[in-house]
This record gives sequence, C-alpha cells and structure tokens, in this order.
Amino acid sequence: MRTLIKAEIKMNIIAHRGYSAKYPENTLIAFQEAAKLDVWGVEFDVHLTKDNQLVVIHDEKINRTSNGKGFVKDMTLEELQAFDFGAWFAPEFAGQQIPTLAEVLTVFKNEHHQINIEIKSDIFEYPGIEALIANEIHAFNLEDRVIISSFNHESIARFQQIMPNVETALLFASLVLNLEEYIGLFGCDAIHIPYHHGMRSIIQQAIKNGVTVRAYTVNNAKIARQMEALGVDAVFSDVVEIG
Ligand code: G3P
Ligand code: MG
Repeated sequence: MRTLIKAEIKMNIIAHRGYSAKYPENTLIAFQEAAKLDVWGVEFDVHLTKDNQLVVIHDEKINRTSNGKGFVKDMTLEELQAFDFGAWFAPEFAGQQIPTLAEVLTVFKNEHHQINIEIKSDIFEYPGIEALIANEIHAFNLEDRVIISSFNHESIARFQQIMPNVETALLFASLVLNLEEYIGLFGCDAIHIPYHHGMRSIIQQAIKNGVTVRAYTVNNAKIARQMEALGVDAVFSDVVEIG
C-alpha cells in the first residue's frame, strides 16, 4: 500500500502526468522524480505522431506545454523533439523534450509503480495506436504492471482484443445509466472517474459490488480523505506529497 507522504491516508496515490505539480507535466524529469516517490502508480497520456511514434503529452496540440505550435499528429517525432517542453513551466527546466512511450517505460521498468497509460484517442482516433502500445508493453515485459485507460471506449475494446491479459479501465468524464451493465460489456477491471462523482449513488453501488474506482484529480488531503471514506481505491494527484 502506497500512501500520501504527509497525510495519514492509506489509499493508493497515482502521480498524475508524473510529478506534475513540481515538474513540467509528462516530461522525463517529472517521471524521474515521480519514480523516486513511494506512490502506488503513475499516469500519463499517449498520442501518435505523423510518423507513427508514440509520444507522451496531454493535449492534441503542443501549444500549451512547449515553445511550439501545432498538432502532434501533423509532426514527426524528430520535428517534435526540436521543441522545448520544460521552459514554459519554469526556466530551470529548459531543454526537456517530448518523451516517447519507450523513454517513459524505461524510467519505470525497474521500479515498483503501476503504470497507467491513458490512450488519448478521444479526439483523433490514431488508427493502430492500440497495437503499437501493446507492442511496447510486450517489449518491456510490463504486462503485469500496466493499466490501460481511455475516454474512447472503442480504443479499450480494441486494446483488449490485442492484449487481453493487461488490466484495462474505462475513463468517464460523466456517468452513464446502467453503469455496471455497461462496465460488464467490456469486462473491465476498474473505472476512472472525476472525484466529485465519488459520492453518487451509482458509484457507491458499484463499489459495493466490487468495482474498483479510481478518482481524478485530487490535490488536497481533505478530498483524499473523503475519497478514502467513500471506498475509492486510488486517487490521481498532481501534488502527490499533499498533507
Ligand atoms: O486518467 C485520469 C486523468 O488523467 C484523465 O483526465 O484530462 O488529466 O487526462 P486528463
Ligand atoms: Mg490523463
């Protein structure tokens, strides 16, 4: 069981986009620092470049988190690597490049963390992205430590066909009627929801029935304690060391 460092909270903590409160989100420095922490897991977001390379970034565009502009899908990996993904956060992080999935998996390969790969195929579908991710998981022999999630549930179904032995989770921004029946269609192990849905009766019922619920994004200890009391299994956190 990996706990919040300062608060007396026993639930699992997942470093959201790496250690993103103190380091530029989804960069190698953010992952290297997350890897040093005694947290249960790490989460990050994956997109596909023009030349079919898997890269770790949250947005479809690089505008917010780099000194460049444009869509990931319209640039090759080499073109993306020319931009700075650290200086926007603080000058001391200048020189951080967009990481590939393989580079991030290398950071965690010999650590203990659960690795939540979020497939960001909910705007652009990135045909073939599921198989490419499966290949990397296999190459790193990380089948037992990866959790695949996506807001695009078709992506989840495709991934399950390719790699049925890896844990999957359905991501929800809002809830659906007949939630447990819907989860059952996928045979998913878990759902990832906004934390404010944790107290909804449909979630409380699902928890009672054994569904694993993880909640994003929790950046203070009071809410983390509420989530723990509600039976939420894990929280995604930017600050990680809250207390
Ligand atoms: O996977 C949990 C959370 O990361 C989902 O939202 O927008 O931060 O990727 P987002
Ligand atoms: Mg995410």
